[in-house]
Amino acid sequence: MRRPILVANWKMHKSVGASLAYGRELVRLLEDHGFDNTRELVLCPTLPALWGVGQRVLSAGVEVGAQNLDTGREGAVTGGVSAYLLAEAGATYVIVGHSERRMLFGETDEKVAAKAVAAFEGHLRPILCVGESSAERDAGRTDATVLRQLDAVLKALSRPEISLVVAYEPLWAIGTGRVAKPAEANRVAAVLRRHLVEVWGEEGREVRVLYGGSVNPENIAQFWGQQEIDGALVGGASLDVRGMVAMAEVPIE
Ligand code: PGA
Repeated sequence: MRRPILVANWKMHKSVGASLAYGRELVRLLEDHGFDNTRELVLCPTLPALWGVGQRVLSAGVEVGAQNLDTGREGAVTGGVSAYLLAEAGATYVIVGHSERRMLFGETDEKVAAKAVAAFEGHLRPILCVGESSAERDAGRTDATVLRQLDAVLKALSRPEISLVVAYEPLWAIGTGRVAKPAEANRVAAVLRRHLVEVWGEEGREVRVLYGGSVNPENIAQFWGQQEIDGALVGGASLDVRGMVAMAEVPIE
């Protein structure tokens, strides 16, 4: 059984004060609505807010994740933050390979794979983002692109790690208001899962695959209703706490 999961990626948004207020309000709203935690909720705030948000939400069963990590445990790495530090600060998840990090920080498949390995070593579950650009899509290279990105991580791991989460995020859908067709997102999720099973055997079926890219309270049910899609990674629409609650509670179509 794959537990449905909704991940909020706040990116470089919200002051620390606003992040803490959101955490408090989220817990209040979930309690008011009798949220039953059947669906897993993960907030990925900015780094300075991570610990404080965790303090406000962890007791309500909401998890926190980081948006990035550095490899290694400790050392002379100015500005670096290891998985161990993030875990100590309350994180249980960490996003790796987000397209913004691949593009803005030049993170290669190899770097992303090293970060996924470092996450597991530090007892964090990586949320691996994969997705094609519009040029790759037009060239019919969607499957080849996402499989290359997934495979780099699978090759770097020495054994099946079924707590890995994979988020299919087509680049042209991120922050654009243009979503993938749910059936197409489902097809790509199936391609990813088939590969996980090829490499890891039946255990690979347990890995959760999410869709991300312009998800909001109005369209999330169409994705959640797809057979192969276990949830969503949401940027912009997760910044509003009421929107987050609406997505958490939406009936699945
Ligand atoms: P978006 O971002 O929901 O604002 O499109 C998704 C993401 O970048 O993870």
